[in-house]
Amino acid sequence: MQILDGKKAAQAIKDKLKIDVASRAVEGKKVPHLAAILVGSNGASETYVAAKVKACEEVGFKSTLIRLEADISEMKLLDAIHDLNTNPDIDGILVQLPLPKHISDEKVINAIDADKDVDGFHPENVGKLLQGLPTFVPATPHGIMLLLEYYKIETKGKHAVVVGRSNIVGRPMSVLLSSNTNPGNCTVTICHSHTSNIKEFCLQADIIVAALGKPEFITADMVKEGAVIIDVGITRTEDATKKSGYKLKGDVAFDEVAPKCSWITPVPGGVGPMTIAALMKNTYRSCMQKN
Ligand code: GUN
Repeated sequence: MQILDGKKAAQAIKDKLKIDVASRAVEGKKVPHLAAILVGSNGASETYVAAKVKACEEVGFKSTLIRLEADISEMKLLDAIHDLNTNPDIDGILVQLPLPKHISDEKVINAIDADKDVDGFHPENVGKLLQGLPTFVPATPHGIMLLLEYYKIETKGKHAVVVGRSNIVGRPMSVLLSSNTNPGNCTVTICHSHTSNIKEFCLQADIIVAALGKPEFITADMVKEGAVIIDVGITRTEDATKKSGYKLKGDVAFDEVAPKCSWITPVPGGVGPMTIAALMKNTYRSCMQKN
């Protein structure tokens, strides 16, 4: 078993971006600027947004973090997005999800200028992804493809089972893995909460992408010998022995699954850092396209 080290692969991507940004700056060209909106103070969202802002600093991007109260009206949030849409210095906009219940995710995502939608959630960009056209690819599946590329994992002709059908991970992941690209060209099965025999599908998988958000759902008896395991899960579970009071758990029971597979991503240090690196790549691309 070998580890798909997301920290290492993400660092390589960020190192390259840092050089590219620095040479743009030397030439007097615009430096990428990412704006992140955080509504409320969900602990996990705080951590993710902080990591995104930190990555911007690392690679030499500008970043703006807009914090809004949990009870802000939908209209005020849409106004904040409009301001960022019309601000020529902003290249990328992201609104951290989940949003409070009184705000419509759909309205918010639709309000973001598709040319600044570095999360790739806007329907225009989702449509382009589906058609195989160049676009912003959602950061988590994009990061997973970059990780497979970094470790030269053979995907052509393989059977990939994606567990989870979210708009953020599962659906775009299935599109990317089945597309005529390298990595790609997989035969893809999507499993979800109404799949009655997930275990049988997983046992046929050369590649499993676990993105359902249930800690340690994928157990050793569900995994074929030599499979590649990508664990997108990152659930906080109580752990009194930790200073933070919690431990991060993936969707894969790592200790029992690892000995059976050829490659596996750890949690943390697997998909998470790749998500951030992919977001940085999207932001850079947005800046390049506009300038
Ligand atoms: N919440 C969980 N993942 C993501 C992501 O990739 N982007 C945003 N904006 N929110 C998220």
